[in-house]
Amino acid sequence: MSKKKVAVIGAGPSGLAQLRAFQSAKQKGEDIPDVVCFEKQSDWGGLWNYTWRTGVDAAGEPCHGSMYRYLWSNGPKEGLEFADYTFDEHFGREIASYPPRAVLFDYIEGRVKKAGVRDWIRFNNVVRDVRYDDATGKFTVTARDTKADKETVEDYDHVIVATGHFSTPNVPHYPGFETFNGRILHAHDFRDAREFTDKDILILGTSYSAEDIGSQCWKYGCKSVTVAHRTAPMGYDWPDNWKEVPALVKVEGRTAHFKDGTTKDVDAIILCTGYKHHFPFLPDDLRLKTANRLAAADLYKGVVWNHNPKMFYLGMQDQWFTFNMFDAQAWWVRDCIMGKIALPDQATMEADPKAREAAEDALEDDYGCIKYQGDYVQELIDETDYPSFDVDAACQAFYEWKKHKKKNIMEFRNHGYTSPMTGKKAPPHHTPWKDAMDDSLESYLQT
Ligand SMILES: Cc1cc2nc3c(=O)[nH]c(=O)nc-3n(C[C@H](O)[C@H](O)[C@H](O)COP(=O)(O)OP(=O)(O)OC[C@H]3O[C@@H](n4cnc5c(N)ncnc54)[C@H](O)[C@@H]3O)c2cc1C
Ligand SMILES: NC(=O)c1ccc[n+]([C@@H]2O[C@H](COP(=O)([O-])OP(=O)(O)OC[C@H]3O[C@@H](n4cnc5c(N)ncnc54)[C@H](OP(=O)(O)O)[C@@H]3O)[C@@H](O)[C@H]2O)c1
Repeated sequence: MSKKKVAVIGAGPSGLAQLRAFQSAKQKGEDIPDVVCFEKQSDWGGLWNYTWRTGVDAAGEPCHGSMYRYLWSNGPKEGLEFADYTFDEHFGREIASYPPRAVLFDYIEGRVKKAGVRDWIRFNNVVRDVRYDDATGKFTVTARDTKADKETVEDYDHVIVATGHFSTPNVPHYPGFETFNGRILHAHDFRDAREFTDKDILILGTSYSAEDIGSQCWKYGCKSVTVAHRTAPMGYDWPDNWKEVPALVKVEGRTAHFKDGTTKDVDAIILCTGYKHHFPFLPDDLRLKTANRLAAADLYKGVVWNHNPKMFYLGMQDQWFTFNMFDAQAWWVRDCIMGKIALPDQATMEADPKAREAAEDALEDDYGCIKYQGDYVQELIDETDYPSFDVDAACQAFYEWKKHKKKNIMEFRNHGYTSPMTGKKAPPHHTPWKDAMDDSLESYLQT
């Protein structure tokens, strides 16, 4: 019998988790399928692979990158640590809890270099189309090698979509945007806070991008930050030149008008208004349509596409847990494809995401959400051989993080937490976050 063929789309943290999951089974002597990973960028790491580009990439494709210079992890690293490859193993010692992007990229890369899976990936390969044929029971994947300018059309038994969902911006329109005398950009195109030094900026949105981009701009010397909220303010104890105001109504010239009748003259408007789940390469029968929430629609166990269970999605949930949740999903999907986990009947599969949605809707606060996603990670790892770890300890790191943010939003990154993998407590960083202007790996790892 010929080997099964599996296509993984995307070599970000989720796709790389999938490659590592298959490789770990191979390492144990198991017979694994042929795995091909398509990655449209020239390197791995997904969003953690920084690009200075905005708009389109070198191949003329939509630029995937949404990360910016000076980005530090917004949650403690103890919440995202790989159970099979600790920070301690990678760096040879415990490091501080909020690594900048370059440090986390290095960590992500360390595991897959060790696993030796780079040659499973076709870089500069953008997947353009996926079709399922009922007659053959196979998926036809059409991809373009943008470097060689060549198309490939191949059949696969399974497709795993790991293309992320924080890359295609949700861009609202407000009256007066057309004639605003300044720059309007979405968080997806934000790259360097120094562009806004001495400027008055207006931010729309109240989630992580709003909080972090505003904080970056404050740290690198913008004149003022005004954040307009559609639903509720963030409510932190902000610095003096930072103000939260009601929703934006319109813009006239460079004057922003808010719902309570107040106004503010601003130089730039940064739309931190979230992202869209966007799969331009998928037809309707394979295309996930979901809100950005903890229980994604139509996915059994959060990963199996209910309308065709030979297809899987990774990392499509809103995220408290990230890298180790992608691992839990990838190990589970691997075992499903390798026949170690059997799927239930259709009715049971369809009931699963609905029950998860109802349970999510009943959650009362962020603490409940963290526990809910932690329980999901636990549920998946209990069903595979992914190294068991203390998920409650990871939740604990998140709970402490939330308290530290409430206490001082510009100082929470100065704290250290206990690793759920090694039980060791992270040392404090050598320089308080607000004074640490150099975010390089070399600078961060100095003792
Ligand atoms: C600004 C920002 C900051 C963040 N900070 C943190 C943080 O501090 N901590 C944290 O844990 N998480 C953070 N995240 C969350 C982030 O989503 C995850 O950490 C992680 O990157 C998700 O991995 P992924 O593999 O699912 O998706 P991505 O990282 O988006 O990777 C998807 C990959 O798929 C590729 N791809 C897309 N379309 C195609 C195609 N058609 N063909 C071939 N390849 C394709 C892309 O090029 C990319 O490499 C942040 C997100 C953003 C936007
Ligand atoms: N340093 C870091 O690590 C870092 C930095 C940035 C982002 N991130 C990550 O990036 C991911 C995405 O975060 P995000 O903040 O970009 O998106 P998000 O969490 O989806 O939040 C979107 C925000 O946009 C608002 N919004 C949507 N449409 C709007 C409109 N028409 N007008 C006004 N406001 C509107 C929403 O407000 P409502 O509440 O009113 O709906 C919400 O506050 C998260 O996983 C986050 O952790 C991490």
